Amino acid sequence: MAQKILVLKGSPRRNGNSAALADQAIKGALENGAEVEQFVLDAMKIRPCTACDECRNSKPECVIKDDMQKIYPKIRWANVIILASPIYFFTMSAQMKLCIDRWYALLKTGESVFEGKKIGILLSFGDTDVNSSGAINAIHTFQDMFGYLDCEIAGIVYGSADRPGEITAQKDVMDQAFALGYKLAA
Ligand SMILES: Cc1cc2nc3c(=O)[nH]c(=O)nc-3n(C[C@H](O)[C@H](O)[C@H](O)COP(=O)(O)O)c2cc1C
Repeated sequence: MAQKILVLKGSPRRNGNSAALADQAIKGALENGAEVEQFVLDAMKIRPCTACDECRNSKPECVIKDDMQKIYPKIRWANVIILASPIYFFTMSAQMKLCIDRWYALLKTGESVFEGKKIGILLSFGDTDVNSSGAINAIHTFQDMFGYLDCEIAGIVYGSADRPGEITAQKDVMDQAFALGYKLAA
């Protein structure tokens, strides 16, 4: 059965490095028969969670009427989620974190929206390696978060690059991103 893959791009740079990794993963996924939906979070109006807890009451989902209302049904639809983010100040981008905080509205007692989903993580950073860049902090956060949500992180791909799209010259990293998308489609 074709896997349903939701890709969330967390960079403001449409032609940036994490977007290039995401596009490679999408290419791999499509080649292996997946259905793919993607959002560029920076292009969307997403407000921070206000902790109003209305989602814990009778309301069906989050009461904030912004572009998260387009993403919620796609989270429910997907059995795979791919997150692509640049590293900003030693962790994921604010665009990505804003969106993820709003997933709180999907964590209701008796529901298991996330349970069993597979996850792919794609990260780009300017520093030389996963530790000095702070990518390791984002990875730890994703590990804690997806452990809590009962999701399996099926693969993490990262690379060092600074100028927009520079990462496309790194064949090994691009191949890894393609392979992750291909694998997640199966
Ligand atoms: C606001 C800002 C903060 C950044 N912070 C870091 C950082 O903490 N560590 C790092 O290695 N690179 C940092 N960078 C560099 C980006 O992670 C790097 O350019 C990355 O490839 C950008 O990905 P993108 O092209 O997908 O936006 C920062 C860049 C910006 C604009």
